[in-house]
Amino acid sequence: MKTVLSDGGAIGVFDSGYGGLTILRELRRVLPQYDYIYLGDNARAPYGSRSFDVVYRFTLEAVNFLFEHGCRLVILACNTASAKALRTIQQNDLPRIDASRRVLGVIRPTVEALGNRSRTGVVGVMGTDGTVRSGSYDMEIEKLYPDFTTVSQACPMWVPIVENHEADGEGADYFVRKYVDALFSQDSRIDALVLACTHYPILYDKIRRCVPEDVDVITQGDIVAESLADYLRRHPEMEERCTRGGSCRYMTTENPDKFTDLARIFLNEPVAVEHVDL
Ligand code: DGL
Repeated sequence: MKTVLSDGGAIGVFDSGYGGLTILRELRRVLPQYDYIYLGDNARAPYGSRSFDVVYRFTLEAVNFLFEHGCRLVILACNTASAKALRTIQQNDLPRIDASRRVLGVIRPTVEALGNRSRTGVVGVMGTDGTVRSGSYDMEIEKLYPDFTTVSQACPMWVPIVENHEADGEGADYFVRKYVDALFSQDSRIDALVLACTHYPILYDKIRRCVPEDVDVITQGDIVAESLADYLRRHPEMEERCTRGGSCRYMTTENPDKFTDLARIFLNEPVAVEHVDL
């Protein structure tokens, strides 16, 4: 695949669908000065149940698309894409496409932030089937904190519940309780719980109610935003190339009206959306 690069300067934020809006919201709160392009591959979401090869191929298409729209820096806001595609894109594709461009994920910054959030050293990770099966959190936690124990739980019903406007319903109560109980029955010493999927902050209140009070329930938006701020401080050559118009373009591979409707749940405000094909 040949990428036709262009120079813009917006920061690209990619997610399989709407979930990355929970990350974008925090990026824009912490770093409001920059321009952003948000791309949701809603037509092909969810990614959580897809194979490595497919997630990699779709994610690479999205990264190429954002590069072609001028982004020099792309954040994979999706945990599933970060787990299954980031490393290959960084190691194999970027050197071929343009070694000066960067693609960053959400797993590493989340794990870095865990160091001072757990006293017992037993950390819970809740994510999509794909993220949990990839073992990416386990490996990253093992690398940074060899004394920690990671306990994971896949929550395959949580994304469809959020996407289908059922986050406030009783069905959501049932499935939140089900997966939280399944996690804590594996190890009751967990005292830090990572919501390792961009959709899960929408279920935060329900999850919080089911989890023991002394457990720190960790969402990623603020962590990823602080980590990007730190990255840009350490990489002035990249920071200088990020344009500062404070704008955000929203793009979806699905129907824009559908996107606008659901985006409201994540952003609490209406947005103008463009349809794109990858
Ligand atoms: N955005 C994905 C993640 O953070 C979840 C949605 C999906 O399965 O596509 O893992």
